Amino acid sequence: MRDAFPHPYTRRDAERFIAMATHTPPALMLAVEVGGEAVGGIGVHPLLDVYRGTAEIGYWLSEEYWGRGIATDAVRAVVPLAFDIFPVVRLQAGIFENNPASMRVLEKCGFCREAVHRSAVTKGGVVMDEYLYALLTSAPVRRGLRPRSG
Ligand SMILES: CC(C)(COP(=O)(O)OP(=O)(O)OC[C@H]1O[C@@H](n2cnc3c(N)ncnc32)[C@H](O)[C@@H]1OP(=O)(O)O)[C@@H](O)C(=O)NCCC(=O)NCCS
Repeated sequence: MRDAFPHPYTRRDAERFIAMATHTPPALMLAVEVGGEAVGGIGVHPLLDVYRGTAEIGYWLSEEYWGRGIATDAVRAVVPLAFDIFPVVRLQAGIFENNPASMRVLEKCGFCREAVHRSAVTKGGVVMDEYLYALLTSAPVRRGLRPRSG
């Protein structure tokens, strides 16, 4: 997770996040719900300028719910929604090298590992590589964007 999500995560951090999420269009920020309780979050943020055809996807889950396929289900559910809502042709995520579970989630959802950004991340004083994963939609024309020629 980026430092925008601090650890430990206090109620005040959560309130700040909800206030921000409520006033930050255009983005999709959803709770992951299990049995009527919010146990995590998933978000999609379109990028700007020449990257406007790309959106970033991010997600997290309360630790007691790890290992049940919930993040995979959440990403699978949000991918078509993201391509539907935003005029993007590409979803991407940068995963820290110490997070193989998240890489696996994306691989199970059809994302491809495209690049390793060496020493791109500093988290908790540790410098790490970042693995870039991406998923392309096969229908750029439908989104009013021209496919590349050649
Ligand atoms: C990463 C995270 C979202 C995964 O959620 P989850 O619901 O446990 O994920 P799933 O159960 O859907 O899938 C996890 C997969 O990773 C695998 N996995 C778990 N730990 C692993 C490890 N150490 N090495 C390799 N694979 C691992 C699981 O076996 C599973 O794959 P499988 O179905 O092929 O067996 C969750 O651990 C989390 O919230 N972590 C903290 C926040 C975070 O890192 N968010 C992602 C930021 S990009």
